[in-house]
Amino acid sequence: MRLQARFAGPLRGRARPPSDKSISHRALILGALAEGMSEIEGLLEADDVMSTAAAARLFGAVLDRQGEGRWTVTGAGGFRQPSETLDCGNSGTGARLLIGAAAGFPISARFDGDLSLRRRPMNRIIAPLSQMGARFDAPANTLPLIVHGGRLRGITYRSPVSSAQVKSAVLLAGLSAEGETVLIEPERSRDHTERMLGVFGARIDNAEIDNALHPRVRAGKLSGARIYVPADPSSAAFPAGAALIVPKSDVRIEDVLVNPLRLGLYETLLEMGAKLGFEERRDPIGEPVADLVVAASDLAGAAPPARRSPAMIDEFPILAVIAAFAKGETRITGAAELRVKESDRITLMVEGLRACGVDAQELPDGLVVRGNGQRSVRGGAAIRTHGDHRVAMSFLVLGMAAREPVVVDDAEMIATSFPNFADFMRSLGADITEVA
Ligand code: S3P
Repeated sequence: MRLQARFAGPLRGRARPPSDKSISHRALILGALAEGMSEIEGLLEADDVMSTAAAARLFGAVLDRQGEGRWTVTGAGGFRQPSETLDCGNSGTGARLLIGAAAGFPISARFDGDLSLRRRPMNRIIAPLSQMGARFDAPANTLPLIVHGGRLRGITYRSPVSSAQVKSAVLLAGLSAEGETVLIEPERSRDHTERMLGVFGARIDNAEIDNALHPRVRAGKLSGARIYVPADPSSAAFPAGAALIVPKSDVRIEDVLVNPLRLGLYETLLEMGAKLGFEERRDPIGEPVADLVVAASDLAGAAPPARRSPAMIDEFPILAVIAAFAKGETRITGAAELRVKESDRITLMVEGLRACGVDAQELPDGLVVRGNGQRSVRGGAAIRTHGDHRVAMSFLVLGMAAREPVVVDDAEMIATSFPNFADFMRSLGADITEVA
C-alpha cells in the first residue's frame, strides 16, 4: 500500500497515540515467565507485539484478550519446550528478549523472523548468553537460530553497545542463572525491564561498580502482576514532529510515557526552540506518564550530544525530518546503531531527504541536515522505505509540511508499531490518502 501526505493547514486537537511497544513486549514476556495471572491494561495490539504474544503461547503461557488492550497472561512459572519455530516477525525486541528468557530453561527453541529481522545482528546476545552457558546453532550469528538453554551461571557483562535489548536478554537469562548477573553498558539505555522485574517480584537491585550503578539480578520466581501500558513516546514523536513543522498547529498528545531514558528527542527539541511542554504528570504503575502539548515553532538546528543517543535511538528519523524545517545545521553523531535497525536508517533518511530537496549528508555514525525554516522544503518525491515503519512515518510527516506531496512506497509496515497511523493523523487534520 502506497500512502501520500500533503500540506492541509494546521494540525489541531488532542489524541492518545498507541501504547508503548517496549513495555508491551515486556509485559507479555514477564507475564509468561511468572507463576499465576497477570493483568495488562493498554497492551499495544500491533504486529510486533502480536508476534511476541504468539511466542509466549508456544512457550506454554495462556493468553486471553478480554477487550481492547486488556489481556490476561497466565504463566507456567517458566518456559516449556515449544512445539514449533518462534516467528518474531519484524521485531528485534521480541526476538532478543525471548531468546534471553528461553536460554534460562532446559529447552531447545528455534527462532526466526522476516527478511529485515534475519539481517539484524544477534551476536550481541549470543556472546553474553554463551558465556552464561547457553549453546547456539547460529552459523551466521543471525536468525534463524536455535538456542539450547538451561544450567546457566551468572556473569558480569560489559556490553560494548548501549542496548536495552542486550541488557534485557542478559537480565532475563539471569533470572534462572546460578549466582548474580550484572549488566554494564556505556550509556544507560531504557530501563523498562528493570522496573517491571521489580513489579513482578524479581530479586533485582543495583550493583555499584566504578562509581556507577548497574542492574543486578539473582535467580528467583516471578509472580503475576498488574501492568498499565501508557502511550509510546516514540510514536508520539510523529504527531509532535508534525505539529512543530506545520505552521499554526497546536496539539495535545495524551497519556505519554515520560520515562527520562526515553525523552532524548524532546530534550533536543527544547534546545532547538520548540514550544513543547509536559502537563498533568502522574505515576500509574512503575512508569511516569504526562500529556505532551506541542505548538508550531521556529526551530534552530542542534547537535545533540552523542551520549544522549540511547535515549532517542528510535527518534532520529523524525528528528532528521524536523531538522529540515529548522534554520541551520543539525548534526547527529554517536548513532551508528541506526545502521542495524529495521533498515540502515542513516542511508535511507539521507537518500529520502535529498529526494525531497533537503541538504543532507551521511556520517559514519549519524547524519547532517541543513534546514531553511518552515515552508522551505519542496517534498514532491516517492520515498523508498525498505519496509521500515519509522522511515515511512517520518516521510509522511515531511509531506504534511512540504510544498509538494510526498508518497511512501510501503505503508503496511507502519502496523508493526502504530496501527491506524493515517487515521490518527487525519483526526488532527492531516491529509493522508492511499494512492495507486
Ligand atoms: C528497544 C530497544 C532499542 C530500540 C527498540 C526497542 C527495547 O533497541 O531501538 O526499538 O524495547 O528494548 P536496542 O536495544 O537495539 O538499542
